[in-house]
Amino acid sequence: MLSNLATRDVETLIHPYTQLAAFRETGPLVLERGDGVWVYDVEGKPYIEGMAGLWCTSLGYSNRELAEAAYEQMLKLPFQHLFSGRSHDPAIELAEKLKEIAPVPISKVFFTSSGSEANDSQVKLVWYYNNALGRPNKKKIIARIKGYHGVTVASASLTGLPANHTDFDLPIANILHTTCPHHYRGAHEGEGEEEYATRLASDLEEMILREGPDTVAAFIAEPIMGAGGAIVPPATYFPKIQAVLAKYDVLFIADEVICGFGRLGEMFGSTALEMQPDTISIAKALTSAYMPLGAVLINEDMYQAMLDESRKIGTFGHGFTYSGHPVASAVAIKTLEIYEREKIVEKVREKAPQFQKRLSALEDHPLIGEARGVGLIGGMEIVADKQTKRQYDPKKGVAAKAVTFAQAEGLIIRSLMGDRIALCPPLIITPEEIDTLFDRLERALDKTLDWVTAEKLS
Ligand SMILES: Cc1ncc(COP(=O)(O)O)c(C=O)c1O
Repeated sequence: MLSNLATRDVETLIHPYTQLAAFRETGPLVLERGDGVWVYDVEGKPYIEGMAGLWCTSLGYSNRELAEAAYEQMLKLPFQHLFSGRSHDPAIELAEKLKEIAPVPISKVFFTSSGSEANDSQVKLVWYYNNALGRPNKKKIIARIKGYHGVTVASASLTGLPANHTDFDLPIANILHTTCPHHYRGAHEGEGEEEYATRLASDLEEMILREGPDTVAAFIAEPIMGAGGAIVPPATYFPKIQAVLAKYDVLFIADEVICGFGRLGEMFGSTALEMQPDTISIAKALTSAYMPLGAVLINEDMYQAMLDESRKIGTFGHGFTYSGHPVASAVAIKTLEIYEREKIVEKVREKAPQFQKRLSALEDHPLIGEARGVGLIGGMEIVADKQTKRQYDPKKGVAAKAVTFAQAEGLIIRSLMGDRIALCPPLIITPEEIDTLFDRLERALDKTLDWVTAEKLS
């Protein structure tokens, strides 16, 4: 029997990433308030937010400074746009700050309101850039199987997950997907991580040669894959991939929407994983998710091409009403100030060994085949047989069941395709809370094992 609020929800809302028919029976988990890493449902039950919302609430749930930054900006100038040369202080200051902290030299910042809009803009900018350079055929963009880049038409096309394509008539033309860098699943018998990375780089090179280097414009990758399974690539993966990109004059786009702003123990994931991208997408922790904001960080080379093209056409014909929204920008400025002042990134580095030790210890659990991460992000995979890595029938939804047991224990985690589970707590989590998180997770996995046994799943 659903509560009154739950019934109203079911009768009014479409929920993203939800089995809409089954949801009519189960109803929502309605959350009411949050404090630090804790969120509380309408009954007052506390949960550790083990996913920082959707990989985003880095500073937790009750940061007054961020609320006050928004309030003050709302009183002063709640809205102005950046169209036709209009501007305002918060957007200028934030862009300056982003240029200062970016992991590679950045010339200009283009603001969006989400990660999807940032990646959609990346696609258009790559096309615009190559038109400016007189290379109208160099338009294909290579993404990766299981990569996640959002859901708008171009971004969902970059995303390499079946659920984002099936029956949405995607991907669009000129988007290709190369191999996923998941050693646990993708390596051949006896193939080490280094050899696997070499094979993936040659897969990419073969794809570029097959398509014709003159037609391949860019490659996009997250440092650590998030929604595709919280997957850590082999150590030498990016250096090897970048050597191929450089050889064929292919731009490298880093999607830092999850890894940006400290998640991996560096301000940017690119630094942690030895990536030297040409352009970068950011969002989420840019405002600790207190306001929707994203951006594309553009290098000088691309900016020069944009200058030429807009001179030719008469305008740079792209932009959103909320590009550089003053309230979102003010919150982002405050967020970056707090990261610096509170030494959030250094503290992630200090807490990461404890987090990663408890994570990898889960490989001792009978259900967990792989448990791996970097900094304060981790992914694990439930398997039916650890020796052969055989999985349970996906229809049985074993990882989804584990998420339900975790919820009963007062822990929010997320199941992903392939019976994987992600962990991505707010960066402010304390060492004690890390232990509580893993204690609850272990209990949830034990209950999942009991359920699997009772159901005779094999
Ligand atoms: C790596 C990555 N890129 C892009 C996106 C899309 O961002 P948004 O949901 O803000 O459109 C996400 C969202 O989870 C993401 O994880």
